[in-house]
Amino acid sequence: MSSPKVIILAIDGPAGAGKSTIAKRLASRLGFLYIDTGAMYRAVGLWALRTGTSLSDAHRLEQLASMARVELLEGGTRVKLNGEDISDLIRTQQMSDAASKVSAVPGVRRALVDKQREMGARESVVMEGRDIGTNVFPQAQVKIYLDASVEVRAARRLRDLEAKGQAVPLEQVEREIRDRDMRDSTRGEAPLRQAPDAEYLDTSGMPVEQVEEAILRIYRERTANGKE
Ligand code: DC
Repeated sequence: MSSPKVIILAIDGPAGAGKSTIAKRLASRLGFLYIDTGAMYRAVGLWALRTGTSLSDAHRLEQLASMARVELLEGGTRVKLNGEDISDLIRTQQMSDAASKVSAVPGVRRALVDKQREMGARESVVMEGRDIGTNVFPQAQVKIYLDASVEVRAARRLRDLEAKGQAVPLEQVEREIRDRDMRDSTRGEAPLRQAPDAEYLDTSGMPVEQVEEAILRIYRERTANGKE
């Protein structure tokens, strides 16, 4: 009989490190739920922009985050905000920037982290973000910190944007990534940081299959050696 124990595989790291691609593949290999926490911050950012809310109005942003009904559907690949499919709308440079800004507001983080903890309490998950191993699930059995050089991450982000028909100069993507890295890692509340017990993986020169196998090896070691 399979164990009823819930397993949390936490993947953190900066923008463009390959978290989403890898997390989706791992969730499908392991039969876990895939949860993209960045999509939740993007949804709040979208709502704020649509309602003309200032991205520095912490009180109002916290209210939006508490009220937001964010659903992750179709294996976590589609996102609904208050019943509307916003999956494509949130994948723009403007939304990356808005998400990064709203995510620095402590009240927004509290509201979304509560939702994330509820999701991970019910079933085994692969959860990706910036603070999963450090803050959302510090007790996660498996923690991975994915990284890559800024140049590699910008090139990957550019490919994603081009595939969606958005033409943005490489220098602009690189600048946006550097700005976001800075904001995400220097904010006061749950900044992007490697958890002391996370495995560090630089994916710069690694094919996706190799990253996936490396994480699966770590997963097997950590779930079999009594650490959990
Ligand atoms: O992973 P992403 O690029 O979709 O995330 C968008 C922004 O949301 C990111 O710049 C910082 C914020 N974020 C966060 O603060 N904490 C998380 N767990 C996930 C994302």
